[in-house]
Amino acid sequence: MAKLKIEDLTLIFGREQHTALQLLKQGKGKAEILSATGCTVAVKEASFEIEKGEFFVIMGLSGSGKSSLLRCLNRLIEPTAGNVILNGTNITALKEHELQQVRRKEITMVFQKFALLPHRSVLENVAFGLELQGIPAEERLAKANTVIDLVGLKGYGHMLPSELSGGMQQRVGLARALANDPEVLLMDEAFSALDPLIRTQMQDELLDLQEKMHKTIVFITHDLDEAIRLGDRIAIMKDGEVIQVGTPEEILTSPANDYVTSFVEKVDRKSIITASSLMDTKPTMAVFRKDGPEGSLRKMRATGLNILPAVTVDKHFLGFVYLHEVLEVKKRGDKTIEAAIHRDVSVAYPETTVEQMLPFIAETDKPVAVVNPENNKLLGLISQTALIIETTGNQPA
Ligand SMILES: Nc1ncnc2c1ncn2[C@@H]1O[C@H](COP(=O)(O)OP(=O)(O)O)[C@@H](O)[C@H]1O
Ligand SMILES: [Mg+2]
Repeated sequence: MAKLKIEDLTLIFGREQHTALQLLKQGKGKAEILSATGCTVAVKEASFEIEKGEFFVIMGLSGSGKSSLLRCLNRLIEPTAGNVILNGTNITALKEHELQQVRRKEITMVFQKFALLPHRSVLENVAFGLELQGIPAEERLAKANTVIDLVGLKGYGHMLPSELSGGMQQRVGLARALANDPEVLLMDEAFSALDPLIRTQMQDELLDLQEKMHKTIVFITHDLDEAIRLGDRIAIMKDGEVIQVGTPEEILTSPANDYVTSFVEKVDRKSIITASSLMDTKPTMAVFRKDGPEGSLRKMRATGLNILPAVTVDKHFLGFVYLHEVLEVKKRGDKTIEAAIHRDVSVAYPETTVEQMLPFIAETDKPVAVVNPENNKLLGLISQTALIIETTGNQPA
């Protein structure tokens, strides 16, 4: 079961919501509905699922509806239509007091630094939610101290928010949300206001924290690099619509349309694209013992290649054979290609990134063999040409 299931979620701002909703159902667009009713379609029929423990990122330009969608997830804004199902419960149907409980224990918004209480210490700010719940002082301070350590604010508990840097204030907000130990954390552009260096550091820390906590995180950003760094999966929004949901690699390798492509072109692909998406999965192979020198030469002639991977009959990768050496062993009268196999070759795994494969380019003229790390079976080959184009090309013309 999905942790969060969003079904046909629509949010319309304005008085004539119902007329607007009718028009939307008739297939009218955002601009048309605005001019006809004065209503803004902030989220349009969004449907997707988020798994338990997933780091899910919603990405899109300013005004694309990210914040609106996020606020509907815990009903800080009431959706106009559709359902939000959390752990199998339709929270769009909950009464206000039930909702309070859900917001506290199950799905909590990490508020920005400006939501901190300025005259209270870091510790009191973090304990504030627990205080509202009537948890005794000793217990709430102990809990607050634990999460303060967790987010890297050890020793800052007595300070005022204004005495901290932007990044540290952001951590106070996170600690406050974590104090309740909620299952789902909602984070709206949490790092967007930070300097690039601090931002990267905060991203790393959040990833580390997530390793320990295994929360379900819904994180909003307008920055694709950040989305790719953080997200297990990314949903891309445009004009209120979710236009693609996928892993970072899926988004980069098969963008759903020109809009997504225009984002993707700006990204440093080297650290994201992996061997699995570059490899040719049906390369011609010299099969050891089955293909002797003559069989191997025939395959080279048929493909025009002067180098082939050599494998066993059950596809275990042995190395590469070169044309001139196969000719040599043939001339010598060898029955197998054994003496021609170059065995000292480095291999890549499906998860190896292009960046990690860069040394392969300088090293040799051989293609890169991609093998299964568990059994060394050959999964595919990446030609030098494909690798070079991937590392130098892809810049928009
Ligand atoms: N309270 C509101 N009243 C009317 N329109 C709003 C309100 N909040 C957001 N909008 C509109 O809804 C659309 C989506 O906004 P928002 O969810 O804030 O986008 P994002 O977070 O992606 O920048 C925009 O067109 C915005 O102008
Ligand atoms: Mg926003």
